[in-house]
Amino acid sequence: MKIAVIGTGYVGLVTAAGLAELGHPVMGTDKDREKIGRISRGVVPIYEPGLDELIAGNVRKKRLSFSPDLNAVIQEADVIFVCVGTPQRVDGSADMSQIEEVSRMIADNLNRYKLVVEKSTVPVKTSYWIKRTIGLYKKTETDFDIASNPEFLREGSAVSDFLHPDRIIVGVETERGRDLLCDIYAKLRDRVVVTNIDTAELIKHASNSFLAMKISYINLISDICDKTDANVEQVAEGMGLDPRIGSRFLKAGIGYGGSCFPKDIKALVKIGEDLGVDMSLLKDADRVNFDRIRVFVDKIKQALWILKDKRIAILGLAFKPETDDIREAPSISIIRELLREGARLRLYDPKAMENMKEIYPEEPDRLEYCDSPYRATEEANALIILTEWEEFAGLELERVKKAMSNLIIVDGRNVFDPAVPRQLGFEYYSIGRK
Ligand code: UDX
Repeated sequence: MKIAVIGTGYVGLVTAAGLAELGHPVMGTDKDREKIGRISRGVVPIYEPGLDELIAGNVRKKRLSFSPDLNAVIQEADVIFVCVGTPQRVDGSADMSQIEEVSRMIADNLNRYKLVVEKSTVPVKTSYWIKRTIGLYKKTETDFDIASNPEFLREGSAVSDFLHPDRIIVGVETERGRDLLCDIYAKLRDRVVVTNIDTAELIKHASNSFLAMKISYINLISDICDKTDANVEQVAEGMGLDPRIGSRFLKAGIGYGGSCFPKDIKALVKIGEDLGVDMSLLKDADRVNFDRIRVFVDKIKQALWILKDKRIAILGLAFKPETDDIREAPSISIIRELLREGARLRLYDPKAMENMKEIYPEEPDRLEYCDSPYRATEEANALIILTEWEEFAGLELERVKKAMSNLIIVDGRNVFDPAVPRQLGFEYYSIGRK
């Protein structure tokens, strides 16, 4: 069974390499010829732990190849995974034009039966539109099936998530489609859950929105902790011991970012509202997340009062550790606010600086990128932490103390035990821990 993966972004690359690792012959393709060229030369365009090795290993074993010839790849494939982007439109809905374009391309190249699997995060009912589009444009009477197999990969642990998943949702409408997709995941059979397609599509949006809501919830609780003597980490721990709640995704901070949660929660709101459902619960969760930036910048102002001309070290730019991804990262809005107030910023991140330079290029005296966390803290009036990279938890605070002009830390990710910096004489502000 030959598999095509269309779209070599984050989801497509991990899916292509993961399916090859399960033993299938996989061809990756993309309309971005230059990107395919780079991947074919062994240059993986994103930083994701273990992905380079997984791709290289499977290319070597000749199970994985990449080609810019979309038509040929579609014709050769028995199963096609659609992994193209569904960016957000101004009204919050997902832009489905790339999915439509691929559907038409599949129709053009429908030379024999194929199973078309949507893997991109899509609104419920998208499969109906893919099916209709292929049916409308196909030039032969050839049969095809549609399936939904949403991805639940987390950036930073995507390879392991693919190979050791909690669940594999297989949304199908025919036995043939079900058997093919279940065969593909035969090695992970105990994880497969079969549903109809609408259900599979909704599971993805419902899961991400629920997790986003959980984060907004604990952030709201952290606001109460900030104004009382309660400690948000202990509150989360106490709550999480109840198995009905669970301890994960209860880490208070500066809010969720990334390519999924902010987009998916808005998309689900739009889907629900279009169906006449009151979606205010999710709208509020999203609003709480938006408000994190103001809450955090206020904390910095409480520490520094006037930000104009203050030299501020920022550690962490990625939306979470172990990735170079800055899409929807809280750091982007926080940097914008600090610059607007006239602060002078010194930035450091182990992986995400190149990406951030595209949004905020270096400006002498206003915004500098530093090659180490220690360099960033030199003569700083405050140090702020925006991503909980392990490297930061291991900082030598004595050294930081010598470098800084004022001993102030505002920690947006609760990286330190408050007692440690305080013992060294730092004023230490964090989230939901007085
Ligand atoms: C998420 C989903 O977890 C994954 O299943 C889906 O396929 C894609 O979206 P990802 O965006 O990679 O994955 O990151 P995730 O680890 O879920 O974190 C998302 C955001 O929430 C990050 O900004 C993170 O810092 C924040 N977060 C997460 C918290 O603020 N608190 C938490 O307790 C957990």
